[in-house]
Amino acid sequence: MYPLRYLPKVAIDRKRVPAHVACVMDGNGRWAARRGLPRTDGHAAGEEALVDTIDGALEIGVRYLTVYAFSTENWKRPRDEVRYLMNFNESLIVRRRDELHEKGVRIRFSGRRDWRVPRRLSRRMDETLELTAGNTTMDFVIAFNYGGRAEIVDAVRELVAKGTDTGKVDERAIRSHMYLPDVPDPDLVIRTSGEFRVSNFLLWQIAYSEMVFTDVLWPDFRREHLFEAVSEYQRRSRRFGKLS
Ligand code: IPE
Ligand code: IPE
Ligand code: MG
Repeated sequence: MYPLRYLPKVAIDRKRVPAHVACVMDGNGRWAARRGLPRTDGHAAGEEALVDTIDGALEIGVRYLTVYAFSTENWKRPRDEVRYLMNFNESLIVRRRDELHEKGVRIRFSGRRDWRVPRRLSRRMDETLELTAGNTTMDFVIAFNYGGRAEIVDAVRELVAKGTDTGKVDERAIRSHMYLPDVPDPDLVIRTSGEFRVSNFLLWQIAYSEMVFTDVLWPDFRREHLFEAVSEYQRRSRRFGKLS
C-alpha cells in the first residue's frame, strides 16, 4: 500500500476501502464542447484523469480498478471518432504500461476481441497482459469493446457449447464463464458527467454495487473525486437483502 501523498480532505477509513472500484468515464465530448474543441480533444484530456485516478486508487489500496473505455455501442459513433479512439487507446497503453508495470499494476482487458478491434491494438493488449501478468499490487481492468449483455451472451454460449446440463446452469456456472471470473464484483461504481444510467456496463456484476454519480466531467476527474466517492461509499449501509 502506498503512503498517502496528501491526506484527502474527506475521511477515508483505510480498513474499509472498496476492493473493486469501477468507473464509467463519461463526459469527454461535453468537456471539449465547452471549450470549443473537437470531441477527440476531450478523450485526450481524459488521460490525465485516468492516470491520477489510478494513482489515487493505488494510494488508498484499491485492489481492482475497472474503467469503461469503449462500449459495444460506441461503434455507432462517427467513423472518425471510432478510429481516433482505437488509435488513442493503443497509444495510451503503449505510453503508460511501463510506469504502471513499475508500480506493480497488472493490466487486463475485458470485452469482445472481435474482428472490429484493430489487429495492432489487439497485439498491444496481448503484450501488455504478458508484461504485467505477474503483478499483484492492483489489477487495472480496461473494459474495451465491452457490453454487459454481450458478456452474458458469451457466457451462455460457452455453457451451451460445452453441453452443460440444465440443472448445472446456476449463478455460479454463469459467473465462472464471465470474461474475468476471478475478479470480484465491484463494490463501488462511479459515473461521471451527471448521467444516471448504467449504459450496459458490468450488468451481471453490479447486482449489489453501490453507485455514486458525480457531475464532474471525466477529464476534470482527479483522485480527490475518487476519495470523495469512496467516502460516500463508506457512509452507505450495504445489506445484500438482509437486515443490518
Ligand atoms: C466518454 O465520453 C468516453 C467514451 C464513451 C469513449 P463521451 O465521448 O461519451 O462524452 P460525452 O458523453 O459525449 O460528453
Ligand atoms: C458509456 O458512455 C461508455 C463509456 C464510458 C465507454 P456513453 O457516453 O457511451 O453512454 P451513453 O450513450 O450516454 O449511455
Ligand atoms: Mg457519453
